[in-house]
Amino acid sequence: MKIRSYAKEYEVIFERDPSSLQKLQPTFAANAGKSADDHMFCVIDRKVYELYREHFANIPEERLYLLDAKETNKTIETALAICEAMTVIPAKRNATLISVGGGITQDITGFAANILYRGIHWIFVPTTLLAACDSCIGSKTSLNYHSYKNLLGTFYPPDELHICPAMFRTLTKQDYLSGLGEVVKFNLMAGEIDTIEADLARLLDRSEETVERYVQKSLAFKKPFIEADEFDRGIRIHLNFAHTFGHAFEAVTDYAIPHGTAVAMGMIMANAIAHERGSIDDTIRERMDALLAKIIDLKLLTDVNGFAGLKTFQMDAILDKIKKDKKQVDEAITAVLFTDNSLTLQVVHDVTPAEIEHAFYHMAEILGA
Ligand SMILES: NC(=O)c1ccc[n+]([C@@H]2O[C@H](COP(=O)([O-])OP(=O)(O)OC[C@H]3O[C@@H](n4cnc5c(N)ncnc54)[C@H](O)[C@@H]3O)[C@@H](O)[C@H]2O)c1
Ligand SMILES: [Zn+2]
Repeated sequence: MKIRSYAKEYEVIFERDPSSLQKLQPTFAANAGKSADDHMFCVIDRKVYELYREHFANIPEERLYLLDAKETNKTIETALAICEAMTVIPAKRNATLISVGGGITQDITGFAANILYRGIHWIFVPTTLLAACDSCIGSKTSLNYHSYKNLLGTFYPPDELHICPAMFRTLTKQDYLSGLGEVVKFNLMAGEIDTIEADLARLLDRSEETVERYVQKSLAFKKPFIEADEFDRGIRIHLNFAHTFGHAFEAVTDYAIPHGTAVAMGMIMANAIAHERGSIDDTIRERMDALLAKIIDLKLLTDVNGFAGLKTFQMDAILDKIKKDKKQVDEAITAVLFTDNSLTLQVVHDVTPAEIEHAFYHMAEILGA
């Protein structure tokens, strides 16, 4: 698959096996300056490095930066530390940064690749389902600033993407389910509810063939939106489906709820509002609720992240976060909703606090929390 961008066209390449990552690796000729590989530098998520160490064996220490994928590291300081580490490379604009990891690694390394020498080559290997099915295309780089999530950022596309669905096997259940939230979102937006219902068990089993097919379908759905509106000034807002609510759940729980899971919860809310408005009927809403409930595991989040449960949510705090979301530009709440049973999307600007509250209690009932 090729993606058109303001800067260049770039390709998404699927890899069968993690061993194929070795072909990306520089051989690093002993004589500095004699080989094109000499201009390469790798940033790898530390956990991914430990898990797939044998495939990264050729990288010399001074060409490798291991990144702890934590939100608190998604800062300008980390991006600058990578730039600093890259100064060991004699090359300038022809340097290539290869990064391997999830959305956190992508955001930091995309930003670093963008600012170093005003833009160097960047190859990204998304190793989480969330990064592979969604964030790896679309050019956004985001860094956290003080307590503000994703406040700093640029648009900078990679030169190549290499996706290896076999690597999603080692994701924790929480991270895998988070990715599935975005996969299900794209495919519901594409009106593919029958297909996802039929494939859900295989997706939950992480069947590589099925996961790869769904990553491709997700990217194919996202592609026309980002190609038409890369800088997010118009039609790309449709991709914000369910995020109005999802972002608020991430924020009020201090990110104990992972992004894709918050989006899945946001979909239940958006659908409840669409149902209450008479846009979608009982059957379609119930089918989507049942599907989404299977990929949201709040008990797991309680055990792993100390999530204290939906009962602790304060409606005022949720409404406040929704109003403060950077996509909300005026008083009336904007959201993307399904407008009919064929799952056509529309952007509305008149969602009320009462609708949100009603939808929240519906979601709590569906999730049994
Ligand atoms: N730039 C964008 O367009 C965009 C879009 C959505 C989200 N994001 C950002 O992405 C981040 C979330 O990304 P994410 O969910 O991919 O998570 P992540 O990068 O935080 O990774 C999640 C966890 O999975 C581990 N991991 C990564 N690959 C693995 C593998 N193959 N096997 C085992 N463990 C592995 C990581 O070490 C980490 O512990 C957030 O910071 C979010 O803001 C960016
Ligand atoms: Zn998202």
